[in-house]
This record gives sequence, structure tokens and C-alpha cells, in this order.
Amino acid sequence: MNLPDLKEARKRTKKEVVEKQVDYSIAPSFLGKKYFLKTYGCQMNMHDSEEIRKYLELLGCKEVTTLEESDIVVLNTCAIRENAHDKVFGYLGRCKHLKREKPELLIALGGCMSQEEGVVSEILEKHPYVDVVFGTHNIHELPLLLVDAQNKKQTIQVYSIEGDVYENVKYSRDSKISAWVNIMYGCDKFCTYCIVPYTRGKQRSRRLEKIVAEVEELKKNGYMEVTLLGQNVNAYGKDLEYGYDFKDLLESVAKTQIPRIRFVTSHPWDFTDEMIEVIAKYDNVMPYIHLPLQSGSDAILKKMGRRYTKEEYIALFKKIKERIPECSITTDIIVGFPNETEEDFLETLDVVSTCGFDSAFTFIYSPREGTPASLIEDSISKEVKEARLQRLNALVNQCSLEKNKALEGKIVPVLVLGENEKDKNKIYGYTDTMKLININGSKDLIGRIVPVKVNEAKSFSLDGDALKESEMV
Ligand code: SAH
Ligand code: SF4
Ligand code: F3S
Repeated sequence: MNLPDLKEARKRTKKEVVEKQVDYSIAPSFLGKKYFLKTYGCQMNMHDSEEIRKYLELLGCKEVTTLEESDIVVLNTCAIRENAHDKVFGYLGRCKHLKREKPELLIALGGCMSQEEGVVSEILEKHPYVDVVFGTHNIHELPLLLVDAQNKKQTIQVYSIEGDVYENVKYSRDSKISAWVNIMYGCDKFCTYCIVPYTRGKQRSRRLEKIVAEVEELKKNGYMEVTLLGQNVNAYGKDLEYGYDFKDLLESVAKTQIPRIRFVTSHPWDFTDEMIEVIAKYDNVMPYIHLPLQSGSDAILKKMGRRYTKEEYIALFKKIKERIPECSITTDIIVGFPNETEEDFLETLDVVSTCGFDSAFTFIYSPREGTPASLIEDSISKEVKEARLQRLNALVNQCSLEKNKALEGKIVPVLVLGENEKDKNKIYGYTDTMKLININGSKDLIGRIVPVKVNEAKSFSLDGDALKESEMV
């Protein structure tokens, strides 16, 4: 048994990260078993689930779409806010119930929650029916742990380490059109409210050649789009000694000529003019940047450890828009950081109106055990925080609608990803600026970039008609 330790997880040394090749020689003792995989959290977790799926397939298991049908259930969890926890513990209740009827059911819990001391002690005390707990550093051990769990009682294997860089990882990807590509793991920013640097370890960049080779391979296999993933893509390379950074990586990936390149998440702190130039220069680097603001108040930004001011954020925003006018910019905002005053909150609203984001994810601050902010005594009530969130959402939605309305009547390039789930007569995709669009058009267009005329704009999506390729502007 290996238990998580948040103090250990905080450590950052100069230790060289190790590149690990993943071993795929796995005994197929689970042949024919059915597994159900449920994923919470960010794109990184979704991409990790593609790795988990691959291991389960290599074990000989088949994926099912409901918990009730499964022999193995794997929950890939998120720890970012308390409600993410609540959802998972709620779901574990359902698993427990099913296990009463089906005692051979194997339940595995992985992801960021597994890296938390509090969660694992709760599992140990109150959830003895959970068979396997694995963390973010040892996804590749899941098959071995499942085999162990068949014989033993409860297998808990979580490492609170700085982490390695994994190469040669195989994925069973969700899409054949658009793929996620890890460019770095972990985070060293330690924003005072955030659990990620503890659950994901130190920032470890993959080598540029390995990333480019992965993109080349995806392109060869017909992929139309890659999304480069990292908690701070702009800090890419800073932990390596090869002298290259994110602009160099982006340029090298652009030169592969894969049709579409995206990247998340950008931190305003590390965003350089050269990066803006590369985004502007290459047509296959999409004009879309997710640039979390978190707060518009300098006092709160300082307490959050974000290392930029309101003015610096707005200046960066304007610089991007001046150089790339069509660029859409989205953001993340937290309301109710401990002792946030009405004036602080009004500063946040002010940035939202000044910038006019294409869209924003908004959250109420959630204290995370082990983070510095969780120790601050807070004088702001839950009701005040909820009211602020509503006021913020009203403004954010109005901005999104305005941005989307400006596209009505325009022709936009869309990568078509599939059939619309609700209306089988329609297809859907994303514009270059990352707007979801539902389209009247033939299913033959799936996997292609096509011109679409925008008929109607809503706050969270667009509706349009597919046009002939010759009508692309
Ligand atoms: N690496 C990204 C964000 C990762 S987490 C970045 O730095 O921008 C995604 C979002 O969750 C964050 O941008 C933040 O807005 C939100 N978040 C993180 N910790 C939170 C907490 N303790 N309470 C509420 N929201 C939080
Ligand atoms: Fe969390 Fe900050 Fe790292 Fe983003 S940059 S993952 S908010 S610590
Ligand atoms: Fe959640 Fe971990 Fe992602 S905490 S947001 S799944 S990095």
C-alpha cells in the first residue's frame, strides 16, 4: 500500500525528470470482461482516460455504456472543487449498491482525487468495497493493480512524487478526427487556491521532437486537429535545458501542416509577443486562446499568487486582439476568494465588460485541503458569493451572446466532428474560433473542414447551413 502525502507532493527539486517507456506486456486474464469508465474534470483527465481505456482493452475487456452492465468500473476523478468530490462519492454509493448484487464487481478509483490524503483516508475508513485506488503518476500500473485486487482485499497505490515524463504511451482515443496531445505534465505555479500542483506533480515538458513525431503520426492516420495540452502551455520548455520554448514548439507543430492546432491552457504570466506572432503567422494555428483571468482585483490576484495585475491582463488581451483581430478569447473566473470585497468583485466585472470575452467558465471559490488559501479565515457569506456568481454569469452570457450575434450571416470554417446527438438530421462541429455550431448538412462532411453560413446565434452555440467547399472565404 502507498498512501498520498500532500507535503511530499509540494516538493520541487532540481532532479532531472526521467523519461519512462511504458511496458505493454500484460497478461490477458480479464478476457471478455465488461468495463465502464467514467471521467470527471479537465481535458487532461479525458486524455488520461484514453490511456486507461487502452490498458483495459489490452487486458481483453470490452467497454460498456452503463454502470449496471459492467464487471469493472473505473472512475477517473477530479479534485478541483468540492462539488467534484461530492459527485464522485455520490457515484460510489451507486457502485456499492451494484456490488451488493454483483460481488465480483471490481471498483477502481483514479485521477486527481486519489492523490489527496483526505480522500484516501475516507476510502479506507468508509468505503472498503473500493478495490483499487491508483493515482495520476501510475496510470500504467492499473492492469497490475486490477489483477492484484482480484486476489487481495483493497489495493491502494498512490505516489506523491514530482513525476516522470512518459513516452511511448498508447491511447484508445475518443475521436478519429481531433486528438489531444500532452506537451507537458504537472504544474509549478502553485496558485494559492489550486490543488493541481499537488495532484499532478512538478512541471515536466516532453521533448519537442517527441511531440512533433506524435503529431506527424496522428496526421498520417488522418487526424485533422490536435489540441496541445498542459496546465500552462506557455511555460512549456522552461524546465528543460534545450533552449526551446512554447513558440518554438507551436511553430514546429504548425510546420507538420496538420490542418488545425489548438492549445490549452494559457497562463497570462508566460505569454510572450513571439507566441502571439506564431499564432498570427500560421493559418493552421487556430485563432482561439483560453486565457484565465481568475479575478480583476489586484489585491485578490496578489493573494491568489497569479503574478499579473488587472492592467497587465487587459494590456495582454488588447495586444492579442490588435495582432489577431479575429481571435476569440475565453477565460476562467473565480468569485468569492476569501474576503473578496464588493469593490474587488466590481473590478472583475469591469475586466469582463472591458474585454468582452467570447465565453467564460465561472466558479465559486472552493477551499482545497493542503493549499495556502484554505487556511485564510473568510468573512464573506455563501449567499453573497452565490449572488456574485449570478451577477457575473449574467454579464458573461450577455458578452457571449453579443460575440456570437456578430457572426450571424457570416461564413465560417468548421471542422465537422459528428452527428448531432439530439437531432440526427444535423451534424455539429467547431469554428476556427472554437464555437460549437449545429449544422444542416450531410453526414459525408464529418471529418472535413467546410464553410458554414451562420443563421442564428445563441449564448452557447450557433446554428448554420453547410455550403459548398468553393464558398469558403
Ligand atoms: N491551469 C489552468 C487552470 C486549471 S484548473 C490555469 O492556470 O489557468 C481550471 C480552473 O478551475 C481554473 O482556471 C480556476 O478558475 C478554477 N479553479 C481552480 N481551483 C479552484 C478552487 N479552489 N475553487 C474554485 N475554482 C478553482
Ligand atoms: Fe492551478 Fe495555477 Fe497551476 Fe493553473 S497555473 S493549474 S490555476 S496552480
Ligand atoms: Fe481536475 Fe485534476 Fe484536471 S483536479 S481539473 S482533473 S488536473
